[in-house]
Amino acid sequence: MQVEECRVAISFENRVALVTGAGTGLGRSHALMLAGRGAQVVVNDPATDADGNSAAQAVVDEIVSAGGRAIANTGSVASKEAAQEMVDLAVSEFGKIDILINNAGILRDRSFAKSDMDDFDLVIAVHLLGSAYCSRAAFPVMKENNFGRIVMTTSNSGLYGNFGQANYSAAKAGLIGLMNTLAIEGAKNNILVNSLAPMAATAMTEGGMPQELLDRFHPEYASAGALMLASEEFTETGVILSAAAGHYARVRVTSSPGFQFAADSVSPDEVLAKWADISDASGTMEFASAAEEVAYVAKRTVPGAAQ
Ligand SMILES: NC(=O)c1ccc[n+]([C@@H]2O[C@H](COP(=O)([O-])OP(=O)(O)OC[C@H]3O[C@@H](n4cnc5c(N)ncnc54)[C@H](O)[C@@H]3O)[C@@H](O)[C@H]2O)c1
Repeated sequence: MQVEECRVAISFENRVALVTGAGTGLGRSHALMLAGRGAQVVVNDPATDADGNSAAQAVVDEIVSAGGRAIANTGSVASKEAAQEMVDLAVSEFGKIDILINNAGILRDRSFAKSDMDDFDLVIAVHLLGSAYCSRAAFPVMKENNFGRIVMTTSNSGLYGNFGQANYSAAKAGLIGLMNTLAIEGAKNNILVNSLAPMAATAMTEGGMPQELLDRFHPEYASAGALMLASEEFTETGVILSAAAGHYARVRVTSSPGFQFAADSVSPDEVLAKWADISDASGTMEFASAAEEVAYVAKRTVPGAAQ
């Protein structure tokens, strides 16, 4: 890191964080880095090693032996009750929950034609429903404290598609929808909701990326982005941050300005005929909410009407 360029020292002193799926990979890295900067961390993960030892407890032991504060939880985010218990544990042990990093994840890759719909359900349950359950449990506590930072973990697979990952892509894109609305609903209570689209060498990506990339894609580099999004200092909401070794980019959902027909009633043939103008990306726009798009369309459709 080019330390001389860092003007802000992000601290998580007196902050309480829950990181789901934090026994290994990115979640472990997020948890260790949060604790290293002062956060009290609930480390969630149901996984065990070959000897039956809890992966979450192992991360807690690492944090505690380095002088930090953490507690393990072994529930599955795919259970509403377990998600509630994770948040309850943060509150009972550390008094509140300030930060939620929805990181837990699994893969069930298969081309769509050959895929098993039970796997589809499972992937949606862990990534999308799990993030919704944990966020739902954390929201009232954050609201009460007028402070919250929620980080969803999306993926380029959801943003752009990836062969063999229909279930995962759907779940990861669904998280963007969840983020967008929670960002709108949380704003007045200083609950900011953002998404990390990481690339990192973990169990999940083993064999799935060229080795020379995996050798460089340390989870900590993606965690730098997660911690930035989770910090008090970051005051934007509804942001998607792509993060990998030294690479950080903002991903946006945008719209072409669109083509306005003279009449409201337009045939499919006319839409086809104007497709080049409709999809022209020059002057691309970003809407902060569905209401903003409706207002834009209304203004063009009924010029002069009171908005
Ligand atoms: N590694 C990447 O390049 C990459 C890219 C895009 C997105 N992601 C996302 O980042 C997140 C972390 O992935 P990773 O690469 O560290 O993978 P990983 O497999 O190393 O870690 C995922 C963790 O989630 C835990 N988990 C699984 N099901 C769970 C459940 N029901 N409840 C709680 N925990 C559960 C696992 O036990 C595991 O420890 C995932 O959401 C993944 O989809 C990773």
